[in-house]
Amino acid sequence: MKILVTYISMSGRNEKIAKHLADYLGKEADVDLEQIVDTDAYSLSDYDAVIVESYTYGDGQVPDEAQDFYEDLADVDLKRTKFAVLGSSSKTHIHFGRAVDYFTMQLNSSNGEQVSDSVKINEDPDEDDMLRVDRLGDYVLKSLK
Ligand SMILES: Cc1cc2nc3c(=O)[nH]c(=O)nc-3n(C[C@H](O)[C@H](O)[C@H](O)COP(=O)(O)O)c2cc1C
Repeated sequence: MKILVTYISMSGRNEKIAKHLADYLGKEADVDLEQIVDTDAYSLSDYDAVIVESYTYGDGQVPDEAQDFYEDLADVDLKRTKFAVLGSSSKTHIHFGRAVDYFTMQLNSSNGEQVSDSVKINEDPDEDDMLRVDRLGDYVLKSLK
């Protein structure tokens, strides 16, 4: 079972969550943890499951640094790959967590199999948020058994 957790984080929240998730999954699976800027979208189909984590920037946008990755996803065929998406962003903005929606739509369009509802976290995760993150991880693991 090979899982990729790839994330983008500006001020550290998503990095912390991604590391937690990779540790959580690592108890049962072989996990690679990468930053989206270092991830080749074409490598996603090498994994049984991929988890994409992103903050939202600008006016409800995918962060600039993640744009290349996001656009490349349109050319990738993920028909054998399960996926889940999450991200911390902020409810102080109108388009709360919109990047999570964009990645979810794109990965579905690329024929990936979504195995968990996407998880949006408001700023710093509280205990309940971390349980939602763990549950997302559980769904991913369960889908691979
Ligand atoms: C200039 C700027 C624009 C932002 N725009 C949005 C937005 O449109 N929607 C949203 O939900 N969050 C927005 N955010 C909030 C970030 O997504 C949020 O702070 C997130 O937790 C940062 O994650 P990180 O600590 O991993 O970098 C914005 C933040 C900044 C600084």
